[in-house]
Amino acid sequence: MPTITYVQPDGTETVLDVQPTTSAMRAAVSAGVPGIVGECGGQAMCATCHVLVRPDFLDVLPPMGEDEDEMLECTSTPRDGARSRLGCQISCGTLDALVVDVPAGQV
Ligand code: FES
Repeated sequence: MPTITYVQPDGTETVLDVQPTTSAMRAAVSAGVPGIVGECGGQAMCATCHVLVRPDFLDVLPPMGEDEDEMLECTSTPRDGARSRLGCQISCGTLDALVVDVPAGQV
């Protein structure tokens, strides 16, 4: 089962075992991870699921779609290059492990 670690700005970590059929946003919302809201339900229309992927894990992510790329211009915390992704667009099915930081502006 894939594992995702969500790291808060104060360093607090939440480690979740996630179903391969879910997304990094849905797993966080279901577990009540602070700072991940998922307001639009995963339609890439709100950016409240913005996460900053740790550099070691960038290669395991699916490619970024056009909708995700556009929505990342609307985040509450400024976009941080390739590290910025929408959690709702990160499918857990292809992951083994992932570590993301929750942007300070979302907490
Ligand atoms: S949940 Fe709205 S953009 Fe990801």
